[in-house]
Amino acid sequence: MSQGVVPGSVPCYNDAMRTACLVLAGSLLLALGFSCSDAADYSGTGPELFQNQCASCHMGDGAGSQLAPPLHGKKSHWTRESLVAYLRDPVGYAAKDPRLRTQGQKFSLAMPTYKMLPQSALELLADHVLAMP
Ligand code: HEC
Repeated sequence: MSQGVVPGSVPCYNDAMRTACLVLAGSLLLALGFSCSDAADYSGTGPELFQNQCASCHMGDGAGSQLAPPLHGKKSHWTRESLVAYLRDPVGYAAKDPRLRTQGQKFSLAMPTYKMLPQSALELLADHVLAMP
C-alpha cells in the first residue's frame, strides 16, 4: 500500500484520493463482514435450513438434480441419529456404506460436511429429510 494503490482499484495520487480509497476499502470490508455473518447463520426451521444449505444440490423439494441424488423414498435407510452422523461426515460415512459409495460415484462433487452446524440444526435437517415422501 506504500504506493497508495489499492489492488484492482485506481491509484491514489494525493491525500484526498487516498482518503477516498480508504473509505472505499473500508466499506468493502464492511460488506464482506456482513455477508460472512449471513453465511454463518444456522438458525431457522428445518425447511429454512434445507433451503439455505441443501437446495442448491438436492433442489428445494429434495427431488435431486445432476449434482445430488433425490432424498425422496430414502426414509427406510435412515434414522434421525444416523442422518446427523452422516451430515457431520458424509464421505467417511459413505466409505462404510456400499449403497452410498456406489451412488456417490455418479456425482462430480462429494456431499459436503455440515459439521460446523450446531446439533439442534442438524436434528432439524434430519427431521426435514425424514418428513419427505
Ligand atoms: C454440493 C452438493 C450437495 C449439497 C449442498 C448437499 N448435498 Fe447431500 N448429497 C450430495 C451428493 C453428491 C450425495 C451422494 C453421496 C453418496 O451417495 O455417497 C448426497 C447425498 C445425500 C444424502 C444421502 C441420500 C441417500 O441416498 O440416502 C442425504 C440424506 C443428503 N445428501 C442430505 C443433504 C442435506 C440435508 C444437505 C444440506 C444440509 C445436503 N445433502 C447438501 C450433494 C450435496
